[in-house]
Amino acid sequence: MKWAGLLCLLDWIGNLYMTCHLHSQSIICITINYLAWRIIDEAMASSFFTFIPCVVRHFKTSFVIPSSLQTLASTGKRQHCIRMRRHLSSLTVENPHFKPLSVISSSSSGSIASKEDSIILGIETSCDDTAAAVVRGDGVILSQVVSSQADLLERYGGVDPKMAGEAHSLVIDQVVEQAIQNANLTENSLSAVSVTIGPGLSLCLRVGVRKARSVAGKFGLPIIGIHHMEAHALIARIFERDLHFPFLVLLVSGGHNLIIVARDLGHYIQLGTTIDDAIGEAYDKTARLLGLDLRNGGGPALEQLALEGDAYAIKFSIPMKQYKDCNFSYAGLKTQTKKAIEKMNVNIDNCPISQADSKERKSRADIAASFQRVAVLHLEDRVERAIEWTMDIEPSIKHLVISGGVASNQYVRERLDLIANKKHLQLICPPPSLCTDNGVMVAWTGIEHFCLGRFEPPPPANEPEDYMLDLRPRWPLGEEYIRGRSDAPSLKRARVHPSLTSIIQASSQH
Ligand SMILES: *[C@@H]1O[C@H](CO)[C@@H](O)[C@H](O)[C@H]1NC(C)=O
Ligand SMILES: *[C@@H]1O[C@H](CO)[C@@H](O)[C@H](O)[C@H]1NC(C)=O
Repeated sequence: MKWAGLLCLLDWIGNLYMTCHLHSQSIICITINYLAWRIIDEAMASSFFTFIPCVVRHFKTSFVIPSSLQTLASTGKRQHCIRMRRHLSSLTVENPHFKPLSVISSSSSGSIASKEDSIILGIETSCDDTAAAVVRGDGVILSQVVSSQADLLERYGGVDPKMAGEAHSLVIDQVVEQAIQNANLTENSLSAVSVTIGPGLSLCLRVGVRKARSVAGKFGLPIIGIHHMEAHALIARIFERDLHFPFLVLLVSGGHNLIIVARDLGHYIQLGTTIDDAIGEAYDKTARLLGLDLRNGGGPALEQLALEGDAYAIKFSIPMKQYKDCNFSYAGLKTQTKKAIEKMNVNIDNCPISQADSKERKSRADIAASFQRVAVLHLEDRVERAIEWTMDIEPSIKHLVISGGVASNQYVRERLDLIANKKHLQLICPPPSLCTDNGVMVAWTGIEHFCLGRFEPPPPANEPEDYMLDLRPRWPLGEEYIRGRSDAPSLKRARVHPSLTSIIQASSQH
């Protein structure tokens, strides 16, 4: 192939391009596609990959990329696809004329990369689990590794940021290595690395981000910064192929209690959040006060005990009934429960549930069941209102997704299923292992963004230790729903990073 001659030809096409925009675009696309299709050996591939930057530079545009990627994908040249994508990220850096990739993907008919082809490593360390996973674009989970700090939690009754950070550091290398090994891959076959950059504890996020950057740097892989809550919201799409935007999501865990409308990838509206504690935290504290065995988590232990109790035995009041909004509050219920337990007059420290006699066990079960009923009634109340609000924002919604650790609670699922049915929505719950923090959700969310060209170029191979990492400990997912504001008390907030939604909207307006 005579590349110089071809450049002449392209120069001529370029002139044409100035005068009749569309036609010459198609001509160049056809030419590039032809070349991509013709690649049969390594030599041709090398020429091809030196040629692409010339085209981009020459025409100060990048529309050729998506279609040639598709050609490469459709002719089974998988390795070349991966290479092409890596190329993309380096081009973005060296060529200021290269348009933001998100713009290309929305203006060209095909998506930037064949989704099925990408293989992404996801790393999650935002709280107390160190997790990594390798996921393929078609949704196949190639590996999944989680190292839990549950024993630390049990011993100290909460997450101590410094200790949690150190615990992550101890296992991160091993967790990531295991994930890659279990997938029977080497780093070279990865398309990119995605990692949670917020929200969460800085000392914990740092460990994952550092690891992700070192893998990406060493192997020249693009990197994708992930919003922890977006990952929880999108994980349902990995196994539920019919889950299209828009949909409603309830995120319930030890640290979060959120209702959001997912309008599109990267576009969220927050209908409500907690003004004090999250439901998972209330479950955990109550389980501890009741002297339950916390080794497999306080929530599951409480749910189990509640099965033996009378849910109407104790009259707890439902939080925030007077505020017709979608915000949550669990601090009050926690206090009510604490009082009820104190009234029982037993020294729980000396009497774990395993040693309680049957009468004692029954009264604890009654508290557990009553607590659970009211805690979940509060969810039901808010979710029902959120569905009504969503009908105004996005009348076409069909699905309610629940995710986060508490979403694996059977009672929560049953009750919310009733609400969803009543409102003609379908309830979707990820399998329990994907409800709690995990690497799969981070890898999957990475794939969703990667395919739209939202990623950063590979970091340098030997990044200095003191490099300022982009960590976003307080990072809202989307803007608050204005109409839903009420007079309910709200949290004072420390400095907050601009929301994911506002960042993505700003970047796609260029
Ligand atoms: C990796 O290889 C092992 C042993 O050959 C096999 O059991 C396992 O299923 C493979 N895993 C994947 C994700 O292909
Ligand atoms: C929910 O709480 C937030 C702050 O925690 C507050 O800004 C917002 O107005 C509240 N939302 C509603 C709907 O009351």
